[in-house]
Amino acid sequence: MSNKESLSGKVALITGASRGIGKEIALELSKLSAEVFINYSSSDEKADEVVSTIKNNGGKAHKLKFDVSKEESVSLAFDEIIKINGSIDILVNNAGITRDGLLMRMKSEQWDEVLNTNLKGVFLCTKYASKFMMKKRSGTIVNISSVVGIIGNPGQANYSAAKAGVIGFTKTCAKEFASRGIQVNAIAPGFIETEMTEKLNTEEIVKAIPLKRLGSCSQIAQLVSFLVSSDAGSYITGQTISIDGGMSI
Ligand SMILES: NC(=O)c1ccc[n+]([C@@H]2O[C@H](COP(=O)([O-])OP(=O)(O)OC[C@H]3O[C@@H](n4cnc5c(N)ncnc54)[C@H](OP(=O)(O)O)[C@@H]3O)[C@@H](O)[C@H]2O)c1
Repeated sequence: MSNKESLSGKVALITGASRGIGKEIALELSKLSAEVFINYSSSDEKADEVVSTIKNNGGKAHKLKFDVSKEESVSLAFDEIIKINGSIDILVNNAGITRDGLLMRMKSEQWDEVLNTNLKGVFLCTKYASKFMMKKRSGTIVNISSVVGIIGNPGQANYSAAKAGVIGFTKTCAKEFASRGIQVNAIAPGFIETEMTEKLNTEEIVKAIPLKRLGSCSQIAQLVSFLVSSDAGSYITGQTISIDGGMSI
């Protein structure tokens, strides 16, 4: 059994953990005894609830409000993590937004907002986290991409470009960091039941999913947990793991 099975003594930052997939990842990693930092951009109350749930279950959690797309705020956030814990072991780049629209009508602002949050945010958090992971010569990074970054989706040119970018970024970081004992992988979820997907026409979407159902946040969280805490996970790097009910086949 790997000593990574339990995350006791490990510090994890999960971006966008006030709700949806990120929240479930934070709960799952705290169940394995990791100390978790709950990042978010505006939902103070929701982030408080996640922290309270973890603390009520005997875990350690801190909320950390910062915008992943702004270098100055990312830098200050890492100062805070290092001040409290002296290191970071696990980074889950999960924060993401959509600003959908057909390309003909897509405004530059919609493009920039999505690329800045979903791709530049991953770059910035990885850059700052890897600085500390390199010193420790260990660390695990999981980037949340999307099935749309693999197969595309009308109305999501900005989002699919960012999510495809995350996949290339993941492979490069995996190669750059492997000699320092740092693994970098991506997860490409299909349609998962969250606030991001609740405004969509689920009936139509389900028709395009071979398994004919949406996925759950908990399933994504379990896959993250596998990558960061299992012995098998410790030998995987540079991969994009699809968890999409067969959408990308
Ligand atoms: N849901 C799906 O079907 C699906 C499928 C494939 C991939 N994904 C990806 O999975 C990730 C999570 O999706 P979700 O559905 O759970 O999203 P969600 O429910 O909309 O939650 C998004 C999270 O990201 C945070 N966030 C947004 N912009 C941020 C910024 N600039 N800085 C820091 N935090 C920010 C939000 O914080 P606030 O609460 O403060 O706004 C929130 O915690 C995203 O990367 C998404 O693209 C989702």
